[in-house]
Amino acid sequence: MVIPFSLPLIDDDVVAEVNDALLNTGWLTTGPKVRQLEVEISALTGTPVLCVNSWSSGAMLMLRWFGVGPGDEVIIPAYTYSATALCAMNLGATVVMVDVLDDFTIDPAKIRAAVTPRTKAIIPVDMGGWPADYDAIHAVLAAPDVASQFVAASANQKRLGRILVVTDAAHSIGSSYRGRPNGQLADATVFSLHSVKNITTGEGGAVCINLPAPFDNEAEYTFLKALALNGQNKSAFEKNVPGAWRYDIIDQGLKINLPDINAAIGLAQIRKYASELLPDRRRKFELYQEGFGQYEWAILPPYRDAQRESSAHLYMLRIASADEQRRDRIITAIAEAGVGVNVHYIPMAMLTLFKDRGYRIADYPKTYQLYANEITLPLYNTLTEDQVAEVIHVVASAVEATA
Ligand SMILES: Cc1ncc(COP(=O)(O)O)c(C=O)c1O
Repeated sequence: MVIPFSLPLIDDDVVAEVNDALLNTGWLTTGPKVRQLEVEISALTGTPVLCVNSWSSGAMLMLRWFGVGPGDEVIIPAYTYSATALCAMNLGATVVMVDVLDDFTIDPAKIRAAVTPRTKAIIPVDMGGWPADYDAIHAVLAAPDVASQFVAASANQKRLGRILVVTDAAHSIGSSYRGRPNGQLADATVFSLHSVKNITTGEGGAVCINLPAPFDNEAEYTFLKALALNGQNKSAFEKNVPGAWRYDIIDQGLKINLPDINAAIGLAQIRKYASELLPDRRRKFELYQEGFGQYEWAILPPYRDAQRESSAHLYMLRIASADEQRRDRIITAIAEAGVGVNVHYIPMAMLTLFKDRGYRIADYPKTYQLYANEITLPLYNTLTEDQVAEVIHVVASAVEATA
């Protein structure tokens, strides 16, 4: 039995919604389907939501909105996908990486040590769907020795008066922290709607806007929507009404809007996310937890505690006492048995671009330790419970065969 690592959910509901976009709305680019998708995600997060064409562009939009650029620093965890760094680097800012905790999320104490008068933003990552420790992060930012270092340059920096927190929630739509839905845990939260994510539009992203007073989040939504469309204050859809042709370019924008044809896919999925798709992912995650819980060598991924509930995006198993070479041999044995797995992630400091820029993996020992024995297993809605049992069996055999 071949079990792929990941498959998007393309069921009858998705086909019907895409057909509706194609046959009935007469609209392909940003229009009614995108708006409906924003409303559905909003119902989950309790915030205004702006859909864009990727996590990366949504994160860049928020940093740009805040005026982040050359000379500024953005703090991120060393353990993440490189997009977390690139959204800041592509604006000319310098990325300051800090090490993580045992649960893969950014270490708040390390944030404190990394803040300088140049720090403009922090991007915590909810790894695999597990929220970072937001109370601890906000407490660090409020500490007088940290808060007093902030130097406001742009109008939005002056209004906020502190470092901006943008969550890399690429994995964590539907997770929660102290009873609050993800989307409300930081100033801005960006979900990825890429093909392998819990909700997908093929490529896409969704920005939840949760700024404190005196910001008006609905007004910021309207402004950011324009900023995501070349700075144009009226979309093609809004102009497609007789007499509504006039528009203005109100700021120097990006062109990162989500097409309706893509939104239709995610719209069909999000309508049953809370009731069906997310509980289904969690059930499979729990089957893995039960299965691997029997083995001493298995270090189970964080999933649920008194404060947090994961969105069960990735099943990030670790093999105790395996070093990188043995982990790689285990992966080869699993692949030979027909099961697709991955490693999340090769630390950025081990990749060419970042090594060339002077980042060294030796500076992030916890990140290396987590990476060296990590294997991510298949987890998606069309994976059957029998396949979960098969994956557990294949992984256990591979671990034992390489002992
Ligand atoms: C942690 C993390 N951040 C950001 C991204 C980038 O998302 P996108 O491909 O939607 O830009 C990904 C994509 O896999 C990711 O895993």
